[in-house]
Amino acid sequence: MPDLLIKNGLLVDPVLGERRGDLLLRRGRIARCGGRVAAPRGAEVFDVSGLWVFPGFIDAHVHAREPGCEEAETIASAAAAAAAGGITSVLLMPNTSPALASPALLRRYRARAAAAPVNVYFSAAATAGRQGRAPSSAAALKKAGARALTDDGSALPHRLLPELIRLARRAGLPLLDHPEDFSLTGPGVCHPRAAARLGLRPISDRSEWLAVLRDIFAAAGCGPLHLQHLSLAASVAALKAAKAAGWPVTGETCPHYFTLSERDIRQDDAAFKMKPPLRSAADRLAVLSALADGTVDLIASDHAPHTAARKAGGFKTAPFGIIGLETLAPLCVTELVLKKVITRRRLAQLLCANPARLLSLKNKGSLRPGSDADVAVLDPRRARRVPEVFVSRSRNSPFTGRLLRGWPALTVVRGRVVFRGA
Ligand code: DOR
Ligand code: ZN
Repeated sequence: MPDLLIKNGLLVDPVLGERRGDLLLRRGRIARCGGRVAAPRGAEVFDVSGLWVFPGFIDAHVHAREPGCEEAETIASAAAAAAAGGITSVLLMPNTSPALASPALLRRYRARAAAAPVNVYFSAAATAGRQGRAPSSAAALKKAGARALTDDGSALPHRLLPELIRLARRAGLPLLDHPEDFSLTGPGVCHPRAAARLGLRPISDRSEWLAVLRDIFAAAGCGPLHLQHLSLAASVAALKAAKAAGWPVTGETCPHYFTLSERDIRQDDAAFKMKPPLRSAADRLAVLSALADGTVDLIASDHAPHTAARKAGGFKTAPFGIIGLETLAPLCVTELVLKKVITRRRLAQLLCANPARLLSLKNKGSLRPGSDADVAVLDPRRARRVPEVFVSRSRNSPFTGRLLRGWPALTVVRGRVVFRGA
């Protein structure tokens, strides 16, 4: 593998901060960061003047649909979409069919993912068979290579929370919860105001809020817990209070919750249907503040591909979920950095350092020499519309047609170029 020299960029590191200069990648590691570096003989050189160079993004919330719905996405197509999005590591969710709930299944799909262009990590079901009745075998799943435990798609059962937290901690795995009280969501499909406009069934804010409060209460007693896709002012307020009390809780949000609100649902278009649903304009602003003040730890895409046929039915019948791997970085750049909600360095914490810490990816999330040579180069200058057709096999995005900046120009994984922007 030749050395790679990325010249004249604005290098953004969550710890070192920003510096201009060159980045040298050698034998899969970062060899130099900053200053002028003379090109070693045989090196491949990229001039990235005017572009931003980040540690490769780590997306801790991705649904790849393999096994079970390869028509919507496979591990290979999700990995290609990630590469096109500047994402160099993904954590896959286990709500496949069958669920990734056994060591044997996990081993089989890990072996398949080994050839992917990006680093693919797997979470496994936190409850046996992902059925919500009894804990899964945390230690055996860890031995088979699981990086985290979650029942995402469904909430961890309230009754089992303390035990699940204890078992995950003992196995040395992060436990991630999709906070939703399903008895309060029921048949709802969207925010009550959008539901009233379009004649649909509402989802109460309380279904997330109550689950978040229960999660925090359980974690306060016994150990770390990570809250997935937070979407409400009340949720981030609760997370902020929990952190102030010193409780071991972390939280993520997704680009749609800081970019869109229920007001953006103008017609019965299932591209806007996801769980949790788009909330009020005030919730969106609270999520923005929580990103800026450090309450929210990381941004993940919750990439949830579904076929056009399944999404065609509108809000009533379509499955929940939107794709997000290819729009994660440009949405963060356009909505957060260019609008001066957060700095580039804070973005590197939210997309690189903090997810690396959550998943114990020791050499990732930084441009410091010695780190893995996973790099994302973004172009903040050229505005481009979100396309209708993606690298992903699916196209269920509410952002199609939106003008964004910060599209990936170059993605490098372990020193190898896996994507070059047009
Ligand atoms: O919108 C969603 N889609 N939310 C989830 O929690 C699950 C996901 C999926 O698997 O489609
Ligand atoms: Zn979820």
